Amino acid sequence: MSHSEAESLHAAAPWWQPRPGRHLSIQGGQALTGIYPVSGAKNAVLALMMSSLLTPGLVTLHNVPCILDVAVLANLLQGLGVNLSWSHGSHGLSVTLCADHVHPARIDRALVTRMRASVLLLGTVLARCGEVWLPMPGGDDIGLRGIDFHIAGLRAMGARIDLDGGVVHATAPEGLHGADIRLPFPSVGATQNLLLAAVLAQGTTVIRNAAREPENIDLAQCLGQMGAVISGIGSDELTIEGGRVLGGAVHQVMPDRIELGTMACAAATTDGELLLRHGRMELLGAAAPLFGAAGVELREVADGVIARRAAGGLRGTDIVTGPYPGFATDLQSPAMALLAMAPGASAVTETMFEQRFRHVDELRKMGANISVQGRTGFIRGVPHLAGARVTATDVRAAAALVLAGLAAQGETILDGLDHLDRGYDRMEEKLGACGARLRRGDRFEG
Ligand code: EPU
Repeated sequence: MSHSEAESLHAAAPWWQPRPGRHLSIQGGQALTGIYPVSGAKNAVLALMMSSLLTPGLVTLHNVPCILDVAVLANLLQGLGVNLSWSHGSHGLSVTLCADHVHPARIDRALVTRMRASVLLLGTVLARCGEVWLPMPGGDDIGLRGIDFHIAGLRAMGARIDLDGGVVHATAPEGLHGADIRLPFPSVGATQNLLLAAVLAQGTTVIRNAAREPENIDLAQCLGQMGAVISGIGSDELTIEGGRVLGGAVHQVMPDRIELGTMACAAATTDGELLLRHGRMELLGAAAPLFGAAGVELREVADGVIARRAAGGLRGTDIVTGPYPGFATDLQSPAMALLAMAPGASAVTETMFEQRFRHVDELRKMGANISVQGRTGFIRGVPHLAGARVTATDVRAAAALVLAGLAAQGETILDGLDHLDRGYDRMEEKLGACGARLRRGDRFEG
């Protein structure tokens, strides 16, 4: 990241600063014990911050995770004219967003291409301003196909949308109107985008085959507080009575279920015991019983979930990812790290994203026995992983490699830390407090 990029992120989110050190050294083999506070959910807070674009009222979010993606989105929103004020208190990091004026043409391409969630600017800015120019989120390699459900839904609501020179240009000269929309697949982002647009559209919108992920429930509840009328929250059919004038809201961001599941695996692989404070079992969906089958014992208590290795030890098991309440694709790479150390055979099938096995080569460098055929990884558990020099290729791969490094024998050096910082709030600090030995630096042998 360039110095000027870092400066503009810091200006939008003053709590954010570049972390010193390009590599993370992890000395494996320490049992993790103690209290690990689960932070606010990345994939909830990004959509919640976007909801502020729908109202001139003040939207205050508590329990905001201190992560790079939040700083990037803060910078993007600031560019659109949103005013953000930050504070630290008993609810952790809080932000109040005020979008009394939104400038639809000022969307920074460099920031948009860093983050898939920027696609939500399409529904929000279009609904608020009647027009939006959005550089293709995620750059050319994602292509139009990746947002076709978003575009088809908005078109059904009366939007005119063209792709011109890598920019999506959407207008709604007569405003958006309600529509009956069936998503071809329960896409998380398309459900969020259409929901955000529908609350300002005139009339009733029905979103069928909607994604039921807890982050979408969190968003719908916050919109409800702002004055939106939404029924069917948590089901696969949302009905939105649009056209209300929305006001502000005060909302607590839900706990991060991916951090919860990842750290539950870390407690089991290191043979320790963690109280994952603020965690709730139901957020894990199908992952809770599957982790149980793999030897991760989970017990819900008043202030969270206690995770440790089951008395019978780790065991190979089969996993297929799917939309919530199915096994979350974002837990697939941490689960692979766990199963790499679980005696017996496992098969992990990724149904959501075609290219989500890039962590496999890195786990192999640590001694994992994994072969990939199509969308399935076949794993033979090995007694121990060994520390190695590995590189994170996405945010969840980064967490999986930290997990592997914590349980491995010897030192693991992880590169690609931007990916870790995108999605995990103070991970090293929180792990360090539970006995992990890790530090960032610039010069490690490996
Ligand atoms: N899809 C299309 N067309 C569309 C939309 C989606 O073909 O218009 C396809 C995608 O290509 C993919 C599938 O549908 O194969 C599911 O994608 P979905 O839209 O549900 O995912 P997303 O909204 O892009 C969010 C999370 C992801 C998480 C997925 C699935 C955010 C910012 N991102 O992505 O999180 O994996 O839902 O749960 O909420 C992460 O945090 O590391 C991450 C990738």
